[in-house]
Amino acid sequence: MSKKLFIETLGCAMNSRDSEHMIAQLREKEGYTTTDEFREADLILINTCSVRERPVHKLFSELGGFNKHKKKGAKIGVCGCTASHLGEEIIKRAPYVNFVLGARNVSKICEVLHLDKAVEIDINYDESEFAFDDFRSSSHKAFINISIGCDKSCTFCIVPKTRGDEISIPADLIIQEARRAAVNGAKEIFLLGQNVNNYGRRFSGDTEKINFSELLRRLSKIDEVERIRFTSPHPFHMDDEFIEEFGKNPKICKSMHMPLQSGSNTILKAMKRGYTKEWFINRVQKLRAECPEVSISTDIIVAFPGESDEDFADTIDVMKQVRFDQIFSFKYSPRPHTEAEHLTEVDSEISSDRLSYLQTLNNEIHDEINAALMGNTYRVYFEELIRDGYISGRSDNNIVIKVKGSEELLGVFKDVKVTAIGRTILTGEILA
Ligand code: 5AD
Ligand code: SF4
Repeated sequence: MSKKLFIETLGCAMNSRDSEHMIAQLREKEGYTTTDEFREADLILINTCSVRERPVHKLFSELGGFNKHKKKGAKIGVCGCTASHLGEEIIKRAPYVNFVLGARNVSKICEVLHLDKAVEIDINYDESEFAFDDFRSSSHKAFINISIGCDKSCTFCIVPKTRGDEISIPADLIIQEARRAAVNGAKEIFLLGQNVNNYGRRFSGDTEKINFSELLRRLSKIDEVERIRFTSPHPFHMDDEFIEEFGKNPKICKSMHMPLQSGSNTILKAMKRGYTKEWFINRVQKLRAECPEVSISTDIIVAFPGESDEDFADTIDVMKQVRFDQIFSFKYSPRPHTEAEHLTEVDSEISSDRLSYLQTLNNEIHDEINAALMGNTYRVYFEELIRDGYISGRSDNNIVIKVKGSEELLGVFKDVKVTAIGRTILTGEILA
């Protein structure tokens, strides 16, 4: 009987892809199959995220639960960003943990598995040309890494300390992977990197250097690839070439994530984001001029240390001017090893008030944008079965729509007319 692997994945799409990479290695080289029940697993992995405050004690209490109820002899490994920043401390505090594997070291999963108490968290380790085996949790949508690490030094962000310096993956490897996935049914590919539009700045080997716009052009020449999505681009690197390619290339989905973080020039400077409020708005205008149907999403942090009422008003001003289609908003939380870690925090009541004000405004804007979609028709790519006999999918510009339907629609495109509006999902019917 094959050995069983239980894996819990937290955090971003990069982490999901890292989990797929680890599953691929463990299947191919160690004969594991996956299970959803940790009690029957021979190996329990928790792939952690530390970008915001998932309190460390929560990780340890969860580990305690796994240890108490696990099958006799089962191993436990802690992977991902929290593994990178806590390292050996994890084994000191939870001695039953068998190994710790950082976010930059997932290719070593089969090595650490056999070394008791191994701690592999080197952020200078280069995985950019590692030939991972193929495993995808979905056959109709493929996540593909195009770079690892991040070269920026945003003062609130732990990622450069957990994933290390940015290295781009050679374009020919990315193109081969995209072709393989598309031939196997993934009509949509999703390019991943901490900072995708900085692609091509540094490669580790002697490889042809191309930028992100050129990578998009080459990927769109693969016949079987019908849609290309990516995350996350950085507003600082949104040059005209990139925005024009985005607008005119029909395979690129017309949905752009533009993480604003703050609308105040003072705070943007303190965050070391590298752009101003004016630059951000100018890029939105250029984007909408090139591509009127684009939907724009963003990330906003409220109450970064030193944020005054005027600074917050600038963020609200950008929200009103841009009218984002979707906003992910967070209260600032100090992270270890970051430049902002020891700065004086904004009073917690003020930060809560700002977050709820922002979210209320966002809901109003969002509801107005959504209401205007009633009766429209979108080409939807179906990707997930949901409750009550519905299946959901996305339009090119990232509108999530559900229709009555089952498995046979997975990985299929259909024209869908919107018949009812909801806040997170619309309902529609397939046009014959
Ligand atoms: N506090 C709050 N939000 C943060 N993010 C990253 N670091 C922090 C932090 N210390 C948010 C940013 C980023 C998103 C992925 O998480 O908005 O874009
Ligand atoms: Fe963090 Fe900034 Fe890099 Fe994004 S660009 S991962 S926010 S350091």
